[in-house]
Amino acid sequence: MGLYRVVVGGLPDWLDARRLLGDGDFEFSAEQGGRVSAQARLDASAAADLAARLRGVGLGGRALTLAVEPALPRVLRRRALAEEARRYRSGSPGFGRGGVRLDAEGRRSLTPEALALSLGQRAAARGAGRVLDAAAGAGGNAIGFARAGLSVTAIERDAGRLECARHNARVYGVAERIDFVHGDARVLVPEIEADLLFVDPPWGEGYDKQRVEPTALPLLAELCTLASSERPLWAKVPPSFAVETWPDARPEAFFGVGEGDRRRVKFLILELS
Ligand SMILES: C[S@@+](CC[C@H](N)C(=O)[O-])C[C@H]1O[C@@H](n2cnc3c(N)ncnc32)[C@H](O)[C@@H]1O
Repeated sequence: MGLYRVVVGGLPDWLDARRLLGDGDFEFSAEQGGRVSAQARLDASAAADLAARLRGVGLGGRALTLAVEPALPRVLRRRALAEEARRYRSGSPGFGRGGVRLDAEGRRSLTPEALALSLGQRAAARGAGRVLDAAAGAGGNAIGFARAGLSVTAIERDAGRLECARHNARVYGVAERIDFVHGDARVLVPEIEADLLFVDPPWGEGYDKQRVEPTALPLLAELCTLASSERPLWAKVPPSFAVETWPDARPEAFFGVGEGDRRRVKFLILELS
């Protein structure tokens, strides 16, 4: 079988595009508006895999475009979609340890353990001694910060989920580094001192995979006004968040670490100060 010409457009210039695209001798060219396009000649199965993986994906508020020439055989496209669905189920583990507790929402919104730890290590490297996690959920990020040696205040308005977070912190042996606070972050955040404010707002189950407006994340919209140079804010937002609405924040993309998601952007971190 011959090679297929694949062109991917709309890649943000702040993204590690090679990591997203995977193997292939890609050539890049600048588009307008801080975007880049990439093209390569790929064999049929690599082209079908890439097309299946990038289908419907939006990054930074804009859908990627993908063109393949000549058209891929239908049977290959269907096989690649089925394989992509299988891969999707083998992504980065949330918590790797046994004995943790999660309700349905806590499981769905849990930051993968390895990524939470790497965020914690970054915060520690920046010299943040105390982190305020304004929306702790079942504790994924709070535990990641604490495992990196930081003191954490973890606010959560759902009492049952906060109890899950407390239990999970004990499983990870870091409960003594976390103050768990039950309540509304909008009221509590201004009253609590910290070097870093971390907000992972609810994204909503069916969030828009191509473009998420700030108004779709109301908790973040309220808390972002509380960022300052003494207390910067790290916002964990969907890959499709409309980054141009936060022109002062340079986005950083975090990829998964599992077999199924190491070429998938799991979330963006936007820093505001
Ligand atoms: C995306 S989840 C956080 C997941 C967490 N980062 C993790 O990795 O486990 C967002 C959480 O924010 C909580 N939440 C929403 N509004 C809140 C508010 N006003 N105050 C405190 N918590 C809130 C929700 O109950 C939910 O558990």
